[in-house]
Amino acid sequence: MSDATYILAIESSCDETAAAVLSGPRTLCSSAVHSQIEIHRQYGGVVPELASRSHVMAIDTVVNDALREAGISRNDLRGIAVTMGPGLVGSLLVGLEYARGLGWALDVPVHPVHHIEGHLRAPFLAVSEGFDEPEWPFVGLVVSGGHSSLYHCAAPGVYEELGRTLDDAAGEAFDKVSKHLGLGYPGGAVIDRLARGGNSEAIAFPRPMAKKGGYHFSFSGIKTAVSLHLESVGEPDDEALCDLAASFQEAVVDVLVEKTVRAARDVGVKTVVVTGGVACNSRLRSAMAAACSAEGLRLSVPPPRLCTDNAAMIGAAGYDALLRRIESGERFDAWDLNARATWRLAKASSRAAQVKTPKVRS
Ligand code: KG4
Ligand code: ZN
Repeated sequence: MSDATYILAIESSCDETAAAVLSGPRTLCSSAVHSQIEIHRQYGGVVPELASRSHVMAIDTVVNDALREAGISRNDLRGIAVTMGPGLVGSLLVGLEYARGLGWALDVPVHPVHHIEGHLRAPFLAVSEGFDEPEWPFVGLVVSGGHSSLYHCAAPGVYEELGRTLDDAAGEAFDKVSKHLGLGYPGGAVIDRLARGGNSEAIAFPRPMAKKGGYHFSFSGIKTAVSLHLESVGEPDDEALCDLAASFQEAVVDVLVEKTVRAARDVGVKTVVVTGGVACNSRLRSAMAAACSAEGLRLSVPPPRLCTDNAAMIGAAGYDALLRRIESGERFDAWDLNARATWRLAKASSRAAQVKTPKVRS
């Protein structure tokens, strides 16, 4: 056994039960993810009560899988990082209580992590796979089924929210449009696939708030425009379905790219990070790459398995703080940790006060 400092990371904020072992902030030893998609598919979305129950059933197996894959036992763990929010409260509590119980049994510190900070730190884990390490400061776009937000990430732990969605998240729009088209849940990947065979200029869907509204987003209007289009033209044939998917996707991607590049330009950073489940989208990846290259910006997008919910990113976000606690001799002291269904990622660390963030246009 090496003398590496192993930590366990746990994520259960929505419909993935995930555990990972890390031996450094960028050193991933294992990552196990149990997806609940099959449970929720028939309902066309995540059913919170079923999600919590499934987490309860899966979490012990998932943690054991992560430990086995890393080749270590529970007793080798020196600390635990766990998602404390935001997310579904019943789901969060399963991970949190598991972490608290295990932390107490092992007498090691348990460190709470913000789910969005996890997404923002995911690209750093990909460095060992040949991905370029993003340079701080950067502008981070987090796009998933539950979130669509832009952050100015000044330094590790120092984040300023520049904008967020005022209604649906981007992934939610993909999922709702897919459901409307009878394509099932989740909808992002299937729309992405259909769109490859379609003409993205076939239907001129709106680009809500693309040029105004600061860095906030609004996607429910595009979704309504798709419904209205379907009402007027009726059931699409295969070709029309691909055109519709491509045109819808292009509208969402256009807004995301426009606002992200503008934010990077206004804030004055040289790097853009795009992460979250929607960052798997092939058109978003290619359009963002082209726009960033035209602006002289470096783009960092993690590989797809690190874009969707996973525990590795939670470990990456929590590792340094946990290590400090371990090295200062802290033991288990997580009695008062509680799940936070809503929790804004703000200037989360004490360093925030010392770092001057540039003025941005709102
Ligand atoms: O990050 P994630 O796994 O969970 C949340 O925190 O929500 O993201 C899931 C979301 C779903 O809405 C799914 O439709 C979307 O990511 N998604 C995609 C693609 N793959 C997953 N959206 C667009 N294109 C994709 N290829
Ligand atoms: Zn997420």
